[in-house]
Amino acid sequence: MASSSSQPVYRATTTAPVNIAVIKYWGKRDVTLNLPTNSSLSVTLSQRSLRTLTTASCSANYPTADTLSLNGKPQDIQSSKRTLACLSNLRALRQAIEDADSSLSKLSALPLRIVSENNFPTAAGLASSAAGFAALVRAVANLYQLPQSPRDLSRIARQGSGSACRSLMGGYVAWRTGELADGSDSLAEEVAPASHWPEMRALVLVVSAEKKDVPSTEGMQTTVETSSLFATRAQAVVPERMTAIEEAIQNRDFPRFAEITMRDSNTFHATCLDSWPPIFYMNDVSRAAVRLVHDINRAVGRTVCAYTFDAGPNAVIYYEEKDSALVAGTVKAILGADTEGWDGPFNESVANVTAPGVALDQVDSRILNVLKDGVSRVILTGVGEGPISVKEHLVTETGEAIIH
Ligand code: ADP
Ligand code: DP6
Repeated sequence: MASSSSQPVYRATTTAPVNIAVIKYWGKRDVTLNLPTNSSLSVTLSQRSLRTLTTASCSANYPTADTLSLNGKPQDIQSSKRTLACLSNLRALRQAIEDADSSLSKLSALPLRIVSENNFPTAAGLASSAAGFAALVRAVANLYQLPQSPRDLSRIARQGSGSACRSLMGGYVAWRTGELADGSDSLAEEVAPASHWPEMRALVLVVSAEKKDVPSTEGMQTTVETSSLFATRAQAVVPERMTAIEEAIQNRDFPRFAEITMRDSNTFHATCLDSWPPIFYMNDVSRAAVRLVHDINRAVGRTVCAYTFDAGPNAVIYYEEKDSALVAGTVKAILGADTEGWDGPFNESVANVTAPGVALDQVDSRILNVLKDGVSRVILTGVGEGPISVKEHLVTETGEAIIH
């Protein structure tokens, strides 16, 4: 807490990670509460590469309406039902502890000023909404000193964006669909911490940093309403895959993890194609990445890498650190060392790779140019931790937003 000339300014700041699902969430059984039709499972990605930084502050000095600034731009949160739902849930929890303990400052009555920065493109298929809503919920919960666990808070973050509930934890995280109509059992939980299988790496091939065509919220509703494959995936295919991939994670069985990941990405995109009108998130560059991954696995003679695609064309390729030269090395040789992103964190094992790990004559030659022309940058990353409380505030002691 810091004091200006008039009233105190209270602040709390957190980082939050992106997560990329290996069993995809696609479809809502309740649109208002954001309740999913199937469970999902993701890998939380390291914040050394991608992260949201959010400061939540409150003060009687602020104008009465809550505000949110994202990357320096004011956001219209009054018309964002999702953001309002998160904030009112968090306020109610603070109010309850204030009612129980009269010595606590009445923070729940003060306007909020929330300032956030994503260190990567927003709304470009890089899961900014997941990191963004997880950071918002965690920052306000810290500001209000709420006793709730990440699992409890996931119920709130879920209402901001479904996938955000999985970004409140590190490592390998499941979001259980739940059965109750009020959504109180639709929560995220850690399947294994990052330290259980720290060798997991992810190479993101950024195919397009443009805004995507069909937002995921809208796309999944079209699928629920029109795809005849959809119900089979949600009811029969995913439950079996959840059990199998959790086992693969417990056993650190990469080939099994990889096959389930690839198959589930394919099934999810099949339900998109089966929607009416059909939805295409993957493009020719995405399909070239699929071919490359299968070609690398075939050339090596074992499964060393797996692709997955969200609601956009970017490829995320999972592999284990020991196979970096084979996987990331081959991609680096194809795209060229001058492609942006090879120098970031996690570059140790590909820093000196100049030749492809896999002989390129074993890779379908038609895809090499498609990838070279279509991938604008890469992001090298790996499994990482959940939100971290930091002192690098984006609001000054006297309550002004700091915009970088
Ligand atoms: P993405 O593929 O990046 O997740 P979406 O279109 O699904 O794209 O979500 C983008 C939306 O998520 C933004 O318009 C904003 O409402 C929300 N969002 C993104 N980053 C943040 C943030 N740091 N804080 C709060 N909300 C955020
Ligand atoms: C393909 O979480 O963005 O990335 O709940 O409507 O905000 P809303 O959807 P969102 O959808 C994510 C879809 C996905 C799969 C996943 O992350 O599990």
